[in-house]
Amino acid sequence: MKEAFHGSDIEKIEEKYGVSADEIISFAANVSPLGVSSLYLNGISEKLHCVERYPERDYGRLRDAISSYCGAKSSNIIMGSGSSELISAVIKHHPAPEVMITAPAYAEYARNVAIAGGNSRYYSLKAEEGFEFDTNRLIDSLTDELDLLIICNPMNPTGTALKSSELDRVLERCEELDIICAVDETYVDFADDEYDATSLAEVYPCLFIIRSMSKFFSAPGLRIGYGITTDETLLKEIEENKDPWSVSSLSNEAAILMLKDRDYIAESKKYMASERERVCRKLDSLKPLGITYTVPRANFVLLHLPENRLSAKGLFEKAIREKMMIRNCADYSGLENGYVRFCFMKEEDDDRLLSLIKEAYT
Ligand SMILES: Cc1ncc(COP(=O)(O)O)c(C=O)c1O
Repeated sequence: MKEAFHGSDIEKIEEKYGVSADEIISFAANVSPLGVSSLYLNGISEKLHCVERYPERDYGRLRDAISSYCGAKSSNIIMGSGSSELISAVIKHHPAPEVMITAPAYAEYARNVAIAGGNSRYYSLKAEEGFEFDTNRLIDSLTDELDLLIICNPMNPTGTALKSSELDRVLERCEELDIICAVDETYVDFADDEYDATSLAEVYPCLFIIRSMSKFFSAPGLRIGYGITTDETLLKEIEENKDPWSVSSLSNEAAILMLKDRDYIAESKKYMASERERVCRKLDSLKPLGITYTVPRANFVLLHLPENRLSAKGLFEKAIREKMMIRNCADYSGLENGYVRFCFMKEEDDDRLLSLIKEAYT
């Protein structure tokens, strides 16, 4: 495997390249650049004593806050320590599961399948199709041997996404074949509403939506994730197999405050939609240099660099010397050559990165 740093490897970077972690702008972690909500900042100090008690066992107040944020019924929501815990929980639901994963894929899916003694197969998006989903091909690839289908939507690292009207067709087939369909919506809050699968949960009990507060709420340290499904048995079984209190009392209170900050939520959505558009227009002007990109639906973009020029690793190193950390995608199957990913940060930072890229290939 080629060396590539994950978005959270900032301390390793500090050690290897001698740049201070505090000064690095992380274009690799896919976390919102807007920082945490002010309602949380102003309110959390009053809640600090909550750690003197165990968290509410069923996280009722937090599930209610999530319910009014995303529209799913509170009784259909299950809490987890980041979306990571729910990814692991749904994969381990079947012993030795047979799993289909959309690819190029976030590495945690296959890692958890291997831990569960299962087998992973892949439905790969194709570079020549702009890494867009081909719903018919996806449906045709499903068989009754599968226990679980994992769709990352919007997809990390390609940034492409499946509309809920298309996902509807996939779910119909999963229901027929008795396959659980886990849709990892860690990045959906940044995307347009047409990619949000929440309303489909009411129609298809086989759907298990996985969400996170790490990225959109700029809070990866909180470790808040949640699952949504109308399959009561699945929800109950996953709950029973999880460790209790995996979300701390403080995270519970923090998340409730963040979800109540409707101004923050609206502003973040507005900022990301306009910054995505602005960066794409700038990337269009780099096409004559041989730099192409995959049309992004969330808060990050996948670039393909020109052949026989500075490699993805070379560009990563050039950027890190300027204290900007991008993601070299060489460790993703199918993206071994010439792909990098970066997330949208503040305008001035994005401009600095785009200038560096332009200069590197001019
Ligand atoms: C696609 C995807 N799913 C899940 C996660 C894990 O997120 P969390 O912090 O909620 O555990 C990540 C983190 O990078 C991710 O990219």
